[in-house]
Amino acid sequence: MPYLADFCHFLGLALAIPLQYIMSTNSFNDNFLRACRREKSDHIPIWFMRQAGRYQPEYREVRKKYSLLEICRHPEVCANVTILPVEQLNVDAAILFSDITLPIGPMGIDFDIVENVGPVIHNPVRDAKDVDRIISFDAEESLPYVGETIEILKRELSVPLIGFVGAPFTLASYIIEGGPSKSYLKTKTFMYAQPVAWHKLMDKLATEMAKYLRYQVSKGAAAVQVFDSWVGNLSIEDYREYVYPHMVKMFSALKDLNVPLIHFGVVSGHLLTMMKDCGATVVGLDWRVRIDESWKLLNYEVAVQGNLDPAILVAPADIVKQKTNHILEQVDRPGFIFNLGHGIMPQADGDTLKRIVDQVHGYKK
Ligand code: CP3
Repeated sequence: MPYLADFCHFLGLALAIPLQYIMSTNSFNDNFLRACRREKSDHIPIWFMRQAGRYQPEYREVRKKYSLLEICRHPEVCANVTILPVEQLNVDAAILFSDITLPIGPMGIDFDIVENVGPVIHNPVRDAKDVDRIISFDAEESLPYVGETIEILKRELSVPLIGFVGAPFTLASYIIEGGPSKSYLKTKTFMYAQPVAWHKLMDKLATEMAKYLRYQVSKGAAAVQVFDSWVGNLSIEDYREYVYPHMVKMFSALKDLNVPLIHFGVVSGHLLTMMKDCGATVVGLDWRVRIDESWKLLNYEVAVQGNLDPAILVAPADIVKQKTNHILEQVDRPGFIFNLGHGIMPQADGDTLKRIVDQVHGYKK
């Protein structure tokens, strides 16, 4: 009899180990990473830029108690805010809840995020001396809570986590303007009138943001997105001269991480080939361009992500369905990730987002 008990114990273990293995491998949804690598996936993966935000009643509740930056400084709260849309919407990736401005604090730039305005900089950069004052930082020392949040997420999530930074131009535009801008006049004046200081600023930002992304990956981010939201305001020639070399340097400093590198911009259709040539492995598209034409233009050398107009989220259900289908029909190979062309707006409705996720997951050609 004792043998039988031993045998049952052994059998139990022998069964439990592979079962646990099968369950753990099966439960991780890697469709997003496969699409980033242009490999076949079970379904077209989808996530939304700004999937954690004011359209969610739960997020608005959290914001009553914590400012945006306070959320980032509390790993448990920040991880919960990151996870919530993944659970609610059934998307295939999570994006770390943070802001592109978070790492400029430890570089010596004082800022606040003002409701309905965005980042406001108290000590904007206006000349070479200001650029020299920008310091290098160590994320482990200055932003330890980011690492702690990512470690919680790595344990809790069953989808890949996307880390992110703002690209040098978009960050420089806030740092020089002092806040959001429509014309980017101060930024462009700085760029044209003080090119040496400009390149020094861009070089510092590229170096620091590459380091910060490496930190995020070391803690568990499985892919990274570089947001160059406002770079589309530059001409092709100015992008080539004032931005491109810094982006090449930044992406080449990330290459050995072997994680997908997503490069995203708004109104940047004219810059797409250069945004690919920087070294990105996924290019994000806004709604002003077509998926099929853009992908062809990029020689299918990268995966593409996009590009539903976020304004469509407030349209009637049949229009949402039709516009979603219009995007899906342009996809004829592996390597596509469904997303919006820019972030979700506070007016969006969670049920509409859920319906889009179901439609994309259920799509068969
Ligand atoms: O869910 C996610 O996408 C992750 C969270 C995230 C935030 N900001 C949180 C946030 C991400 C990826 C960003 C990136 C970011 N921040 C960008 C690049 C992407 C883009 O939208 O182009 C830029 C340019 C910023 C700067 C910034 N921060 C802006 C323009 C705003 C909006 C101002 C407003 O009130 O409408 C912010 C504030 C901000 N960052 C919010 C969120 C959820 C707004 C809500 C809040 O204040 O709680």
